[in-house]
Amino acid sequence: MPDSDVRAHLKNLYAVSDDPWNTCSSPYERGKFAQTIACLPRPRYKLGLEVGCGVGALSVKLAPRCDILIAMDCTDQAVRTALAQNDLTNVSFVVGEAPRDWPDHPPDLVILSEVLYFMTDAESAGLALRLVHDCTAQCHVVLVNWLGDTGKIGGAVAAQRLIAQLAASHDHFVAANGAQFRIDLLARRGTSLAVA
Ligand SMILES: C[S@@+](CC[C@H](N)C(=O)[O-])C[C@H]1O[C@@H](n2cnc3c(N)ncnc32)[C@H](O)[C@@H]1O
Repeated sequence: MPDSDVRAHLKNLYAVSDDPWNTCSSPYERGKFAQTIACLPRPRYKLGLEVGCGVGALSVKLAPRCDILIAMDCTDQAVRTALAQNDLTNVSFVVGEAPRDWPDHPPDLVILSEVLYFMTDAESAGLALRLVHDCTAQCHVVLVNWLGDTGKIGGAVAAQRLIAQLAASHDHFVAANGAQFRIDLLARRGTSLAVA
């Protein structure tokens, strides 16, 4: 989890490049990260979890909005680079695979940026269970997905899959839907997207 083909593919990508998606240098990524941060409904979160943090380019932007941020990636080379590049006192970069690995304490923010389309249906379903049972009731979930060809399932399909898996428990809001990427927010039904 992710399955062994996907894991091998990710490992290969990080073997030939420190930053396979140019997340630290691309103006497109910078703009997308700024929009992601702008979509966060609360000014501050106690415990953020960023799944699939890569080399930490978005983590750097999330850190000032979280008391503690756990930035997790299943590819150890990505985490090594993130650790070498960043010295953020409130961020823990860890090797881990969602949904199997999860923080000991329930996060009140979960960021899923460009990671859902690496997951199988079963992994996405397992992630939905984590979001229901292992997050605070006030938790905000942010989905960021590229709409171009991923070579796997599309970003929109991956987002809709998780949204459907959470339909019984979470309200869904489209925060941004452009030509290149979309951002979706999910919050437990009956809770607010406003400042808690
Ligand atoms: C396209 S990069 C996205 C990096 C960053 N989140 C961003 O938005 O730029 C996807 C990252 O997710 C990681 N990844 C894929 N599936 C994962 C999983 N199930 N758990 C943790 N990390 C995962 C990959 O190793 C890769 O570094």
